[in-house]
Amino acid sequence: MNASRPDAVQAGAEAIARCRRLLEPALREAVSVLHPSGARMAGFALGWSDVDGRPFAGDGGKHLRPAIAMLSAEAVGAPPESALPGAVAVELVHAFSLVHDDIMDLDERRRHRQTLWRAYGAGPALLAGDAMLALAVDRLAGTGVPMAYLSRALVELVQGQTLDLAFENRPWSGPGEVTVQEYEEMAAGKTGSLLGAAAATGVALGGAPELAERAWEMGREFGVAFQIYDDILGIWGDPAITGKPVHGDLRRGKKTLPIIAALSAGGTAARELAVVVGAAATDEEAVRQAARLVEEAGGRQAALDLSARRARGAMKMMAEFLPGDTALRDVCGALIDRIR
Ligand code: IPE
Ligand code: IPE
Ligand code: MG
Ligand code: MG
Repeated sequence: MNASRPDAVQAGAEAIARCRRLLEPALREAVSVLHPSGARMAGFALGWSDVDGRPFAGDGGKHLRPAIAMLSAEAVGAPPESALPGAVAVELVHAFSLVHDDIMDLDERRRHRQTLWRAYGAGPALLAGDAMLALAVDRLAGTGVPMAYLSRALVELVQGQTLDLAFENRPWSGPGEVTVQEYEEMAAGKTGSLLGAAAATGVALGGAPELAERAWEMGREFGVAFQIYDDILGIWGDPAITGKPVHGDLRRGKKTLPIIAALSAGGTAARELAVVVGAAATDEEAVRQAARLVEEAGGRQAALDLSARRARGAMKMMAEFLPGDTALRDVCGALIDRIR
């Protein structure tokens, strides 16, 4: 099986744009029921308004999860709109998770501007995140759609974030170091679970609930690939494109896959890297040196390889229960194209 069509990047981007046009009015309508201060903060986080609540055409993110929900419904023969309540719910959960994540990670920039907690304070931002989570659950419950996948994802997401934070305090190498397997468990929880819920909820809303479990597994697998790629962008991405600064993970002592792989590679660069990260220096010079050594030790390539392997695994699962040239396949194929 070819992993993706040659024009998958273009086709994937078009499919996401098509879903976004369906999503946006529904998402705005959902957010409009919040208390005005919650709606204002949600509008800022979602890229619709400036800090004072005035309309603003900002970066609202890639809308990958709602696209997966709607295109999963389409892949089982239903119109993408049939999954709209699920799409709104997963995007709201995603937005909530980013707002809280930026507080946990002490990150100051996202989507090309200040993070919500930097703009409004941590207390209000926590509450705005809570409001979006509550709204997501309420929206889905109101449709009578089974909530099992979204609630399972929430439990796993919190577990994944718990591991992510706990790993900050684990040593870089030696006894107690974070293994690749532990990393994969963490990534499946914090990121895979919501992509799994998007796909499972999408096929269920599209009228094929018997495929939901397999869709969950496929989305989760794809989510691990996506998270590893996000880790790569966190070191070598272009902030002008990602909207997030680089090296934040290195400064915070995050156990991301490129570093875990580099440290376990052996050789001079890996040993030098262990010394540099072990010193826990957070100045620009030290983190640049660490990034260079991660690359030299092969950590970037190892992360690309693992991300591609997990993405291909997801595509293989998809081919088994959703065969054919679907737009869902194009969206997932587009990630594989980026990884190369
Ligand atoms: C960022 O997700 C956080 C991760 C789970 C990797 P996205 O990269 O999908 O964020 P947006 O929505 O496009 O900003
Ligand atoms: C992604 O967390 C997972 C969640 C937000 C639940 P990260 O901390 O790895 O993602 P970014 O890089 O801040 O977007
Ligand atoms: Mg973060
Ligand atoms: Mg985080």
